[in-house]
Amino acid sequence: MIRIPVAAPSRSYEVLLEIGLLARAGECLGSFLPHRRVFVVTVPPVRRRWGKALLQSLAATGVKAEILEMPDGELFKRLATLEKLAEKLVKTGADRSAILIALGGGVVGDVTGFLASVYMRGVDVIQIPTTVLAQVDAAVGGKTGVNLQSGKNLLGTFHQPRAVLVDPGVLATLPSREYRAGLYEAMKCGIIGDPGLFRIFEERRREILDREPAVLEKVIADSVRLKASVVSADERENGLRQVLNLGHTIGHALEAETRYKQLLHGEAVAWGMIAATHIALSTGKLDSVMAGRITSTILGFGQLPRLKCNSASVVKRLHSDKKTRHGVVHFILPREIGKVEIVNDVPEGIVRSAVDEIRKLASG
Ligand SMILES: NC(=O)c1ccc[n+]([C@@H]2O[C@H](COP(=O)([O-])OP(=O)(O)OC[C@H]3O[C@@H](n4cnc5c(N)ncnc54)[C@H](O)[C@@H]3O)[C@@H](O)[C@H]2O)c1
Ligand SMILES: [Zn+2]
Repeated sequence: MIRIPVAAPSRSYEVLLEIGLLARAGECLGSFLPHRRVFVVTVPPVRRRWGKALLQSLAATGVKAEILEMPDGELFKRLATLEKLAEKLVKTGADRSAILIALGGGVVGDVTGFLASVYMRGVDVIQIPTTVLAQVDAAVGGKTGVNLQSGKNLLGTFHQPRAVLVDPGVLATLPSREYRAGLYEAMKCGIIGDPGLFRIFEERRREILDREPAVLEKVIADSVRLKASVVSADERENGLRQVLNLGHTIGHALEAETRYKQLLHGEAVAWGMIAATHIALSTGKLDSVMAGRITSTILGFGQLPRLKCNSASVVKRLHSDKKTRHGVVHFILPREIGKVEIVNDVPEGIVRSAVDEIRKLASG
């Protein structure tokens, strides 16, 4: 089993990673669960496939967990869901010693983390992520949240889990589009700080796309290591943690401009990373060979959805993104593969031409 420490100031914990780990969850979580009420928060598609395996493994160590279901989808990542789950907890008599286990993708992780942080002023949570995106990104770092009508993730807390259990084996049942979308976040980790990880994407594309277990375990472990080191150094996103937003400045604007209907988050980030690469190239921060490697590796993982939006509106929207501070748009730009820089003075014309460029690529 691979153990990756996360040393956030508010709490230190481990990410445990191994193929088949779900079946050993009871054993791995042994020290956290005895004499407590244990609630597994999940969504129907995940419960059907993996719920039983988890409950059985907990039962084998004498832990009788109860399932709490929420409806599936980003639409249900909202306060109303949190309230319903909390009412259910109260009705079953859950007190401050209860522990929640999030079994699902980033939506379940964010809602369960948020609920745990506020239920009776805070209970423990364990994350068992079941999508690539949640395994390499959302489950690690303690950010929780729900959406408002006015925008995504506008309500939230920081609440570090007690432990994160990652079983790449559960990705076998993930729809292929969701699977690929999550891979772009892992690729992002390579570009930010791990050239070796990026090379795996260049050299072992087929095996990764075929979900070959050994390579998958390596890609996820390396991505988690990168995220864990960034989060350990900057838990609350005051500076360094911003580098994790590579591809997200333009990515978020594309998601919003297409009304969250055409692009999965990871796909928007993929386009955003290509745009950031274009900006880095045009401002002389990145050489053309590396820029070519980044762009072709991203595009090599399959066709990305077309962009049915207008460049000018995307650029305009950048200024209303919550990640803009004092009206300044921050870009994370690659300087080389494995090294990025935060830049806040990119001329609007250059941003505009980067957006034109990805729209051209998208239609080609
Ligand atoms: N907290 C953070 O730091 C952080 C970071 C990145 C993203 N996020 C959040 O994560 C969310 C996106 O997460 P996501 O991409 O995992 O989406 P998701 O949670 O909606 O999951 C995607 C779909 O896959 C299904 N699914 C999950 N695991 C499965 C499995 N093993 N087999 C079959 N189907 C499965 C889900 O039911 C869902 O329909 C967004 O809300 C985003 O804001 C949070
Ligand atoms: Zn992301």
